[in-house]
Amino acid sequence: MPGLIPENILDDILSRIDIVELISSYIPLKRTGRNFKACCPFHHEKTPSFIVSPDRQIYNCFGCGESGNAFKFLMRYEQMDFPEAVEVLARKAGVILPQKVAEDNKTQGIITQIYRINELTAEFYTFNFESKEGVKAKDYLLGRGISPETIKALKLGFALDKWDSLINHLRAKGFNLALLEKAGLIVSRDGGGYYDRFRNRIVFPIFDVKGRVLGFGCRVLDNSLPKYINSPETLVYTKGRNLYGLNLAKEAIRDNDFVVVVEGYMDFLLPFQEGLKPIVASQGTALTSEQVRFLKRYTNNVIMVYDSDIAGELATLRSLDIFIEEEVNVRIVSLPKGFDPDSFVRKQGIGEFRKEIENALDLFDYKLKVLKSRYDIKDTTNKAKVCGLMLETINKLKNAILKAEYLKKLSLQLGVKEEALLDEAKRVKPARFGQGHKESDKKKPLSISPTEKLLMSLMLEENSLINRIRESLSPQDFVDERICRIVSVMFNLVEQGKEVKPQTLMNHLEDEVSSLICEPEFLPEGLSLEHKERMADDCLKRIKNEGRRVKRERLHEEIKAAQYAGDEKRLNSLMEEFHLLIKKG
Ligand code: GTP
Ligand code: MN
Repeated sequence: MPGLIPENILDDILSRIDIVELISSYIPLKRTGRNFKACCPFHHEKTPSFIVSPDRQIYNCFGCGESGNAFKFLMRYEQMDFPEAVEVLARKAGVILPQKVAEDNKTQGIITQIYRINELTAEFYTFNFESKEGVKAKDYLLGRGISPETIKALKLGFALDKWDSLINHLRAKGFNLALLEKAGLIVSRDGGGYYDRFRNRIVFPIFDVKGRVLGFGCRVLDNSLPKYINSPETLVYTKGRNLYGLNLAKEAIRDNDFVVVVEGYMDFLLPFQEGLKPIVASQGTALTSEQVRFLKRYTNNVIMVYDSDIAGELATLRSLDIFIEEEVNVRIVSLPKGFDPDSFVRKQGIGEFRKEIENALDLFDYKLKVLKSRYDIKDTTNKAKVCGLMLETINKLKNAILKAEYLKKLSLQLGVKEEALLDEAKRVKPARFGQGHKESDKKKPLSISPTEKLLMSLMLEENSLINRIRESLSPQDFVDERICRIVSVMFNLVEQGKEVKPQTLMNHLEDEVSSLICEPEFLPEGLSLEHKERMADDCLKRIKNEGRRVKRERLHEEIKAAQYAGDEKRLNSLMEEFHLLIKKG
């Protein structure tokens, strides 16, 4: 059955579905560093070992080993078969599915063909670029400091100054005109017939993360207008759903844990060429939440770089609130007057550009600075206005602590009493303010069983103990979820035959968890291995006993419930379990 749905459609669906969003619509997920966790829905547990990774778009339970992608989750959770899961997610993703193979193979066929056509078109444009006619395009780019290597990496090309060169080229390869029109490459004439959409322009192929060509952005070689003509929306290209350069930048974004977002194709080229690899271009528009979510797969830190002229616009400021809604850290660079990233790097060098990025302001400071430059806050009405605009943003923060911090900061900066700001904040958005944020409220106290912590420290010091413990305990036997996490990573590393050292361990752990490893040890110096083994066995016994106690209590509750419900069958199996437990203990 699965074989009937083409691979690239499945890929397409997965690339448009966010697994975090999907799973959190079924079970509550809590963020831990880059990942999310929950109690596993596929086996019974009290401490969460079910991890959802936005980076890798998979889930994985360290307790029961259940893992997979979005399709698999639906299959397991909703008991769907594969085609059903695909159908549900396709609908969610807005991907058209070939339902009945014979009939709808057509759409799929068209999509596949458009990708193929785009690929051939990109090749055609790069061929033109290298031809005699392409010399002016090449000169133009070289003249702007773009190197041949960059041109090659981005597969930049040239659309000839003719009405029918692409048409002829592709028709000769057997594609019909209706299809080329669906690919957005040719335009129909009023009087009948078609002509090439892109003519006499430098071509920027737009790729998806996987490097497939979605469409094209094409720039004139002079100052004529329109400066750019882009592909229209097609079955494979939707505006605001891709980021220029992401296919080349994604690894660097992950490695550096930040991304620089510029606006223009040209603004991407030079910084990228000069070595600033974690960079993408938004292609002129404000980022959509979909684009922000795309970036979130690679990093939580976004640096927006604006030309000075648009930087101060209120619309620009407002568009930044999207980052708050997506809980992504945003910092903003507004370049000196008259510069865009491209001209700035050409004139000042990449070093200066990096400095600008390092000095980027956070959203609060940036917005306040812009507003202060617009409104003279010595005037009381203006001050109130600025307050209101700042509160709009602060109110959107989901983290109550952060919110309080910013209110304090705002009060200091504007010389307005904090209580007054609080009142005003409630008035601006009564529905969302002041309710407190449930998740941050119920953060667990940091008390950890000393036994668990001791055993963890012992294993960390004596790797040989890890195997010994692994035989009798599973990570879930540790009540503290952070220790449970650390232990499960330890076990995994040992399984792979790796040495377990604090620094290697930390590579695998979220910040809040790994801090536990850094806390000072309370092991006495100079213990013999034998002594440590005895200590470890001791801990093990205590943890097991504690676990059994908890389990016994739980079983007891369940037995009562089954009795109450008169569920004979369940009662019997629970009793059996209970006896087994007692016998072992
Ligand atoms: P240069 O002027 O050569 O430096 O180009 P640029 O890419 O830096 O363009 P600019 O900063 O003017 O605009 C930023 C982005 O907005 C461009 O890269 C395009 O994606 C988009 N854009 C600009 N002008 C147009 C236009 O006329 N039509 C369309 N559709 N998009 C445009
Ligand atoms: Mn520019």
